[in-house]
Amino acid sequence: MIVALNNKSNFTREEYKEYLKEIEKIYFRGKLILCPTYLNLTVETDVLLGAQDVSPFEDGAHTGEISAKQLSSIGVKYSIVGHSERRLNETEEELFNEIKRLLENNMTPILCIGERKVDREKGSTKAVIGNQLSSVVNYLTENERSNVIIAYEPVWAIGTGEIPTNDEIQEVISFIKSKLPNNKVLYGGSANEENIDELKKIEGIDGYLVGGLSLKPDKLQIFLDKLRQEE
Ligand code: PGA
Repeated sequence: MIVALNNKSNFTREEYKEYLKEIEKIYFRGKLILCPTYLNLTVETDVLLGAQDVSPFEDGAHTGEISAKQLSSIGVKYSIVGHSERRLNETEEELFNEIKRLLENNMTPILCIGERKVDREKGSTKAVIGNQLSSVVNYLTENERSNVIIAYEPVWAIGTGEIPTNDEIQEVISFIKSKLPNNKVLYGGSANEENIDELKKIEGIDGYLVGGLSLKPDKLQIFLDKLRQEE
């Protein structure tokens, strides 16, 4: 079981140091991946680290970009790619290049995909997700592809407390697995210590990507305890 913690733009350096002490005490036999802001990635820890984004470029004259090579050089092993809060500014080609750069540096991409509310209402959830997947992973080799973690995050469920039914999530997870049987698939979008009892009944989920919950170590521990039997 994988649980990735997306801190988003939260925590100053001092706040993060206090928070990190709590995260370091967390008990979980699965894989816990902490994705703080770039700034806080430089704080020393034994916790597995992921970035929230990565440059599509190798290196060179790209002001403000942080490359996979640089992340790797400070021990970061994962990076979120294509989170819906960033997708407006990123083309599919850039996402593909981000994944390439990560794989070249032996890092694991966590590729976020998910439909908007209007897509679901129009009945085009699978079409949207199929396109998001194929526009990026079809251009990877079989070996590269199997190293990508997919995070299914319905855009309308992120940070809203509103989540799809288990049947709706199940349908999408099965659809992704039918296309990518060798990939780990996470669910993300308002997952918390209360709804995890329901969510964990869904078959084929290999873990979770959590935002709001990641900020509250005590609640996170309850969430992980409830997952424990599945570790
Ligand atoms: P949330 O965020 O858990 O706060 O909904 C998830 C995410 O954006 O990755």
